[in-house]
Amino acid sequence: MYPLTSKVCSSSNATFVNRLTSHILATRQYASTAAKVATSNKDSSANTNEQNPLVNHGTQESYFDYEGVIENEVLKKRQDKSYRFFNNINRLAKEYPMAHRQSDADKVTVWCSNDYLALSKQPEVMDAMKRAIDKYGAGAGGTRNIAGHNKLTMQLEAELAALHKKEGALVFSSCFVANDAVFSLFGQKIKDMVIFSDELNHASMIIGIKHSNLKKHIFKHNNLEELETMLKQYPKSTPKMIAFESVYSMAGSVADINKICDLAEKYGAMTFLDEVHAVGLYGPHGAGVAEHVDFEAHRKAGIATPSIKDNNGHKLAMDRVDIITGTLGKSFGAVGGYAAANKRIIDFLRSYAPGFIFTTTLPPAVMAAASEAIRFQRGNIELRTAQQKHTTYLKEGLQDLGIPVVPNPSHIVPILIGNADLAKQASDMLMEKHKIYVQAINFPTVARGTERLRVTPTPGHTDDLSDIMLDAMEDVFTELQLPRVNDWEAQGGFLGVGDPNFIKEPNLWTERQLEYTNKDLNPNVKHPVIQQLEVSSGIKE
Ligand SMILES: Cc1ncc(COP(=O)(O)O)c(C=O)c1O
Repeated sequence: MYPLTSKVCSSSNATFVNRLTSHILATRQYASTAAKVATSNKDSSANTNEQNPLVNHGTQESYFDYEGVIENEVLKKRQDKSYRFFNNINRLAKEYPMAHRQSDADKVTVWCSNDYLALSKQPEVMDAMKRAIDKYGAGAGGTRNIAGHNKLTMQLEAELAALHKKEGALVFSSCFVANDAVFSLFGQKIKDMVIFSDELNHASMIIGIKHSNLKKHIFKHNNLEELETMLKQYPKSTPKMIAFESVYSMAGSVADINKICDLAEKYGAMTFLDEVHAVGLYGPHGAGVAEHVDFEAHRKAGIATPSIKDNNGHKLAMDRVDIITGTLGKSFGAVGGYAAANKRIIDFLRSYAPGFIFTTTLPPAVMAAASEAIRFQRGNIELRTAQQKHTTYLKEGLQDLGIPVVPNPSHIVPILIGNADLAKQASDMLMEKHKIYVQAINFPTVARGTERLRVTPTPGHTDDLSDIMLDAMEDVFTELQLPRVNDWEAQGGFLGVGDPNFIKEPNLWTERQLEYTNKDLNPNVKHPVIQQLEVSSGIKE
């Protein structure tokens, strides 16, 4: 897609040429340093390795150039503009969505946090955390087996199981660890299992699948025809796992959970669903998209009925999925990850997964905060509807300005830039000139040429803040001459932007669902007594 950006810009004017020149100069400067590194290695080498010119096996007398290899790897990132700059952002608990930078006086509005409901700053959640610190101290004291199994952990696992209407849940240090642990363990124990993985799956799943050493097939994003073609190559008796996400975080696209479960049932596969960017935000109680697709049944039942069925007596989507993973670090405002499943699977993970067994348990205060956040958001559908309404307001405003947003039915607002350097410049200009923080998303988080600004409105991003954001975005797009919808259209469209053949999906939240208030929820979601689960401590025979 680079050609598009350069074409659009080259037709514009000298500003782009200047920008390109400084980009080239900067690149050359990095390149010459890289070349210097490579040359200094070559000088001492009679027999340079073709694939990695820095590895010198020419003589046993010369030392390996660790520094050179390491420096060169980082230089490569600078050259391709995927080098990451972190911003010093201190999100203020009492002034959300504001943060200060290095100095307290330098304040910016944060527009890209994954603390989607701002629960990390919710007084009830903070109080639960403070109480737990006062009573139990800062740390858990060890691994689950030795010192880290306590009533706050058991309570959290019970809350998670109840939220997803599963028999059990297991908390990990993060969802990255949970995803890695689940795939690795299946690979270790079912060696002829075949994995079918969506091409946009998160790095944690990709690494887990790699660690599983299992045979894998990658299907095109949300392309269930291709998935079926892959599945049908194997007998039903071959163990299989379909790995997918509900809301894909960088594009905002959404999987068809029921259709994937249909395929899984037809071909004898297990299903693994990552709901990291959906918990808290979808479903009447924030259990994710698997809950959202059966919205009315779950809303009426509340959280007390574990295995409700649809009108035809069929299982609901959340019940059909075998393993659901989620994070405590985004909508639930704390840190940590989990898997929810039937108690046999949870016991299997608990008993074998090294990523669970051999690491210190999360601090009790984190568990207390996460439990409180789950309870708080469960009975607060108005948080979810406010977030959706703010998202729609912003998306419509951007559309009116001709600013390209990758179309999707979710809460993610991916503003397409299509060039790493320009995405960084846009992010910097928003911060320095407009006091708005939106991080640029570059490779490897997204494919090269699809760089974007990923904006995530929350319940606190009210329309007045959106108006400020829209003015700022208009200024940035004008000043940097970034391609707008009509520019992408002239190229035949890209990622659904300016594409005449693209069929827009309806939003996940319907107009009717957006009208619900907290009073429309079943009273049983407010103060249910959630029993601790036996599987958390180990099932007694
Ligand atoms: C889709 C997805 N899965 C898993 C994770 C990992 O979650 P955690 O931050 O809890 O490690 C992330 C993190 O960004 C994610 O986006």
